[in-house]
Amino acid sequence: MVKSPSLTPFLRSTVERTDFGFLGNKYEGKVRDVYQPTPGQSILIATDRQSAFDIPWCTIPLKGQVLNQLSAWWFTRIADVMPTHVLAVPDPNVMVVKKLTMVPVEIVVRAYLTGSTGTSAWVNYEKGVRNFCGNVLPEGMRKNQKFADLIITPTTKGEHDELIERAGIIERGLSTAKQWEEISDRALALFRRGQQIALERGLILVDTKYEMGYDEDGTLTIADEVHTPDSSRYWVASSYEQRFAEKKEPESLDKEFFRLWLREQGFDPSLRSGQALSSGSGQVYGKPKPEITDDVRVMLAARYIDLYERMTGETFTPPTDTDVPARIERNLRAYIAEPVAA
Ligand SMILES: Nc1ncnc2c1ncn2[C@@H]1O[C@H](COP(=O)(O)OP(=O)(O)OP(=O)(O)O)[C@@H](O)[C@H]1O
Ligand SMILES: [Mg+2]
Repeated sequence: MVKSPSLTPFLRSTVERTDFGFLGNKYEGKVRDVYQPTPGQSILIATDRQSAFDIPWCTIPLKGQVLNQLSAWWFTRIADVMPTHVLAVPDPNVMVVKKLTMVPVEIVVRAYLTGSTGTSAWVNYEKGVRNFCGNVLPEGMRKNQKFADLIITPTTKGEHDELIERAGIIERGLSTAKQWEEISDRALALFRRGQQIALERGLILVDTKYEMGYDEDGTLTIADEVHTPDSSRYWVASSYEQRFAEKKEPESLDKEFFRLWLREQGFDPSLRSGQALSSGSGQVYGKPKPEITDDVRVMLAARYIDLYERMTGETFTPPTDTDVPARIERNLRAYIAEPVAA
């Protein structure tokens, strides 16, 4: 287990954004910088940017490395379930991938009734929604309860995610009925594999978001990231039942922790940032956004690393070179000069 003091040197060398003109045009996602060196390839650089509720907050030391390495680890463990976009991993923060024509829908698979964002199952259920993206949910369920079967709750891919159901996807031409059948079938198969491997490591894969696309031969391929703490929720399996019985929140090892922490500080995502923040019983107006201190950033880094180690069973090795951006540039210049599969 990584001790927090060993992470402190990395507070000053986080990867906030990159500017590598030698890699071609850049697209900035919420977390990844995406370059296109050739028409068929994309280079995904996992930065340390931390967003929540669609708002960028801060950087978390070494988070990009954890995300990229954990995603790479998972891609090798699902490659028999469906083709993956991975071509090479030339640096701990970098994945070279096949550029795909993306399905403009995020495929969310859920095993439990939980969440804290506007598109999450629990927030909608609490509001009285019983038909959630075409999934009929029974009365009387409690927060964090397991669904009888896995459910798929797709969202459109855009500036802000919007819930959609199968019929809407097909009506709007986002995929054909036949394509959606394959997409949802593969998403369930990926999730079952994820649940099985996570459980072997004492973890519950609670829910996750997949992105898929078609390669130049028209083959459906899994893209982006897989089963990372940014795209998934994970709970500790051994304590789940008892905590659920006692109406306590599960021990969570993912970004949900940060969302709940923001709420505890009085941040209310249902209000636009900077407008009003709710605190306990009342509304406090004009309070600034919660300050993310270095202590909080290090604690979040330790959480990401903890999940990496539990999931992979391997010790996370912080880099020997504390100048992470410089290392990434060095490795990418070498890769571009002589591309080799990792
Ligand atoms: N193989 C691929 N081919 C084409 N695009 C891809 C591929 N894999 C991932 N992407 C895209 O690259 C981007 C990765 O960036 P990131 O993960 O930060 O995005 P995001 O968090 O989904 O936010 P945004 O919605 O702003 O893109 C996403 O837009 C994703 O859809
Ligand atoms: Mg993404």
